[in-house]
Amino acid sequence: MDTRALQDSWAVVAKSGDEVPHFFYAHLFLNHPELREMFPVSMAAQRDKLVSALGRVVSNVDKLGEVTPFIEQLGRDHRRFEVVAQHYPAVGASLLVTLQHFLGAAWTQQLATDWAEAYGLIAKVMVTAAEQSEETEPAWWSAEVVSAERRTLDVTVLQLRPELPFSYEPGQSFAMEIPARPRLWRYYSPANAPREDGTVEIHVQLVAGGQVSTSISRSLKPGDRVRMGAPVGDRLTLPDANDGRPLLLVAGGTGLAPLRAVIEHLDRAWANTGRAPRVHLYHGARWAWNLYEHQLLSQLASRPWFDYTPVISDDTSYPGVRGLVGAVAARHPGPRECTSLVCGPTAMVEHTVAQLVGAGHSETDIRYELFENLDSTETRVAQAGDNR
Ligand code: HEM
Repeated sequence: MDTRALQDSWAVVAKSGDEVPHFFYAHLFLNHPELREMFPVSMAAQRDKLVSALGRVVSNVDKLGEVTPFIEQLGRDHRRFEVVAQHYPAVGASLLVTLQHFLGAAWTQQLATDWAEAYGLIAKVMVTAAEQSEETEPAWWSAEVVSAERRTLDVTVLQLRPELPFSYEPGQSFAMEIPARPRLWRYYSPANAPREDGTVEIHVQLVAGGQVSTSISRSLKPGDRVRMGAPVGDRLTLPDANDGRPLLLVAGGTGLAPLRAVIEHLDRAWANTGRAPRVHLYHGARWAWNLYEHQLLSQLASRPWFDYTPVISDDTSYPGVRGLVGAVAARHPGPRECTSLVCGPTAMVEHTVAQLVGAGHSETDIRYELFENLDSTETRVAQAGDNR
């Protein structure tokens, strides 16, 4: 299979922008109207979620070895859309017709064969993982909202109680759907290490014009039920090989949540064993009132292994550390041989990573996921093919 030709042909097709998903969905829904109800009612801003992922993931099939865990998670996570094996040929057929349409004369029999084979390989990994998970976990978890606390003007803290056990690792995330916004799933990260009572805390940033975050902060209330997808992500979990290396944690806004879960996990281990790596957390916010976990983190800073520095970017009268959190973290005096976990809005993550690399940190020691739901579009970036 000529995977270079797959990537080159996808690059050509992607140049047609929004027309590509438009054509794909028109073909899919015309030929399989029964699939329409799996997708959001209004797809204006959403169209691109599946199609761009399809192009990117399938054309990068040569990296399948590296990204198999991600593809398996994706397959398991697709159970929340009620996707089953029988749906894959329909999506594959629409993908091929779309490619043919946009490539015109450049579409060859060889390309058709290679795209079909590549799609088949990815689909097989997704379907197998999904089917295997049927024995051990539900397609989604129904959860009760235990409390919804508007912590600041634009951060709401939710406590959720899943009906069935929901196992995740600190640092992972999951998609959530609220009753008022059917099929508009958004990703959130548990802010707590797994608790005995099974409850999960999430931090929701109010996004200007964001349909889901607005509805959560204005109207979600105790007793409401939400749906949670399977836990996903392994970039912000603690690497097995961390071996007591110091940790540098850099959070922007509610990007703090998965890092707080990691800290809680370390704190519990420390209480039991007396051992913990040195951890320094930089939490960046624009204004001091955005430091919505300041009290808790200040208390934790009494631990011998944990330090916390709040960083404010916009308020020039703030008496503490001021600046962009990535730039401040890059001046951290600790050893460069440490593991960094970075989470926040895309621009903040990209800036922080560049600053850390510029300050001598090795790129391979910096772990991050790009969550657009901390930005205006409220969606998580699919990462397959990037091997981030
Ligand atoms: C190789 C096969 C496939 C890949 C790589 C893939 C990948 C993706 C990705 C990355 C997303 C975005 C997830 C999110 O942000 O929540 C997505 C969404 C979705 N996928 Fe797939 N998918 C595949 C096959 C399918 C199939 C066969 C179906 C069945 C119809 C399907 C239905 C959906 C639906 C309903 C969504 C949500 C769309 C939205 O909210 O706009 N996918 N897919």
